[in-house]
Amino acid sequence: MLILWWVLSIFAIIYVYFWYYFKNTVWCRSQTCLIGKTIIVTGANTGIGYEAALDFAKRGARVILACRNKDKAEIARGKIIEETGNDNVVVKIVDLASLASVRAFAESINKTEKRLDVLVNNAGAALTGEGKSEDGLIWLMQVNYFSSFLLTNLLMGILKKSAPSRVINVSSKGALRAKFDLEKLNTNRGHFQNYCCSKVCNILFTRELAERLKGIDVTTYSLHPGTVKTEIFRHIDGYRKVLIEFLKAHFLKTSEEGAQTIIYTAVAKGIEQYSGENFDNCTCVDPYESTIGPNFEKGLWEKSIELVNLKSDEMQL
Ligand SMILES: NC(=O)c1ccc[n+]([C@@H]2O[C@H](COP(=O)([O-])OP(=O)(O)OC[C@H]3O[C@@H](n4cnc5c(N)ncnc54)[C@H](OP(=O)(O)O)[C@@H]3O)[C@@H](O)[C@H]2O)c1
Repeated sequence: MLILWWVLSIFAIIYVYFWYYFKNTVWCRSQTCLIGKTIIVTGANTGIGYEAALDFAKRGARVILACRNKDKAEIARGKIIEETGNDNVVVKIVDLASLASVRAFAESINKTEKRLDVLVNNAGAALTGEGKSEDGLIWLMQVNYFSSFLLTNLLMGILKKSAPSRVINVSSKGALRAKFDLEKLNTNRGHFQNYCCSKVCNILFTRELAERLKGIDVTTYSLHPGTVKTEIFRHIDGYRKVLIEFLKAHFLKTSEEGAQTIIYTAVAKGIEQYSGENFDNCTCVDPYESTIGPNFEKGLWEKSIELVNLKSDEMQL
């Protein structure tokens, strides 16, 4: 009986620890109104991106759902309009696995939009995409990082014109597990390392972008959204699927909880001094410096220009 009591107590302690570790959520309490503002959210048809877009629409923004699948995006748009009553929500198609698609999307935004106040580079994938894209880049690296790098550069003119404006890059704590190597940026290192390295790139890109934007009222932040029960785990299989389903059922954040740090970095007032920094749970944190090292930002920027073939007349930084 005593042993059973001990086992149950230990199980309860572990359960509470895990629950707190995963579920602990700081909510964005900012009341910022976004009427008159325009926000792009990539990957806004589901998961964290959908919840962020919903929140921005509630605040009155013009929200551009930048998605690869028109049908899914239109369903999301319909739900957002129905829930918020804000019909200034539009769908624009972009496939981040294609640099041509990113260029066409940016061109359309630059031609048709009057302003851009926040760009949220949220779309991402995991556990897939070890092969090369049509552009000769590792698919997952392109979707999670290279396309955001290109898109941000191509939209820099309108972001500057709309200043004060913000660029938000959704990274992950997975960055801590990366064996980052600048020389292997476009080398397949297995889906786990590809994912972790793409998320390091999100952080380094944000730091370098902030550096290049010094003196300009465009600020940028990277963030970890938490571990969130979304479709990001769609490619998981085997025993890991059982484990993730257990975690989803008991511990993981909801998409609404996971969206809080995106919303915070997009709307919170007075965080401009933290441009270039990394956020978790609506708080500026930087646990990455020691593992990644501070010297890769510039090298990554130069290599990214080369790999996405950013032309000199497209560079605004
Ligand atoms: N969930 C977590 O625990 C977690 C933890 C750390 C970081 N993150 C990061 O959070 C971000 C959002 O992920 P999520 O959890 O919300 O995942 P999700 O539910 O799978 O949503 C990902 C979004 O990205 C879109 N996307 C994927 N490939 C794309 C492409 N080639 N072109 C355009 N859009 C594409 C998806 O579109 P489709 O629906 O058409 O596939 C979907 O809208 C990602 O950057 C992820 O790395 C998530």
